[in-house]
Amino acid sequence: MNAKKGLDRRGFIIGGGAALAAAGCSFFRPRTQTGPVSLPAVGTWPWPENGLDPVETAGAQATGLSGCAVVSFGLIANRLKEALPGSAWPVLPPQLASFGNGGGPYGSDCGALQGPLLIMTLLGAPSTLKQEFYKWYCEFPFPSAEWDHLYPVKETVTTVSNSPLCHESRAVWEGVFLREVYDGTNYDNTRCSKLPRDCAKKAVQLINAWKATGYKGEWAPGEGFKACYDCHTQLYRDKQPGGIHSGKEDCVPCHAAVPEHGEAPPPEGR
Ligand code: HEC
Ligand code: HEC
Repeated sequence: MNAKKGLDRRGFIIGGGAALAAAGCSFFRPRTQTGPVSLPAVGTWPWPENGLDPVETAGAQATGLSGCAVVSFGLIANRLKEALPGSAWPVLPPQLASFGNGGGPYGSDCGALQGPLLIMTLLGAPSTLKQEFYKWYCEFPFPSAEWDHLYPVKETVTTVSNSPLCHESRAVWEGVFLREVYDGTNYDNTRCSKLPRDCAKKAVQLINAWKATGYKGEWAPGEGFKACYDCHTQLYRDKQPGGIHSGKEDCVPCHAAVPEHGEAPPPEGR
């Protein structure tokens, strides 16, 4: 009776027990063994041999997914679930990523970065791949019009944030939208629904490249703050005042007013 119950529950979770048993997946504990099911070690989660289609993944229905982190995570996880039914992917609830919705409690890293970052972390992606993903985000005019067919509002105004932060990403956009586009009635609330799709697509492209060719990603500071970054990280290596241990975000928007570095241009804003 208990065994039957357990089987039913597993069948429910994975959606098709027989195929999985045939696939001989180590993820499933032997029926005789009790205790919690063990998940693959973080960094060893599987990716389909032929990769995922970036556009199909990012453009799929987002039914039941709500919030930028849950959408960006769930779109990829749902595809992995279909592509690898015998793996542990079907066990993870997309809601797991809700910690990052709206950049988390403080509106820090955009949730559409955090969702795919969680996928990359489970897969064991190199840190430069993650950094390239973040850098791409900082420089991308969000949201693209690629998903317009899924939303009532088309041609949403686009902005570049120069930052991975939800606060900056959204605030820069609101700054333009509310001043230049908003008619007082028709608020465009589609921006942060489309943006997670742009991020899911980019993340899948990067992961596909890494898995197919061993591409590890690239990161270098942008021209606008390369001098600041190079000097200040060297100061850290030398343990001199002004040394920075962390931070890859464009320095200038936050530090433009530093008197000793007065030549810094004002932030672009758009
Ligand atoms: C050639 C090296 C060099 C470059 C380039 C440089 N800095 Fe500095 N900066 C320093 C040093 C050295 C200090 C520490 C001075 C001290 O406190 O003794 C400093 C201090 C600072 C401080 C803290 C001190 C303060 O006035 O608040 C900030 C913030 C800062 N730099 C930001 C920047 C930014 C932003 C850029 C690029 C626009 C930049 N720096 C470029 C060497 C550099
Ligand atoms: C999101 C905003 C933000 C960004 C981006 C940022 N900083 Fe800062 N940084 C701060 C704040 C806030 C402080 C603490 C207040 C202060 O000292 O100005 C700080 C502190 C510092 C300090 C220490 C100042 C001291 O007391 O000696 C240095 C040096 C510095 N930042 C350099 C940089 C460099 C170089 C970059 C780019 C690689 C950078 N920061 C990017 C916000 C930022």
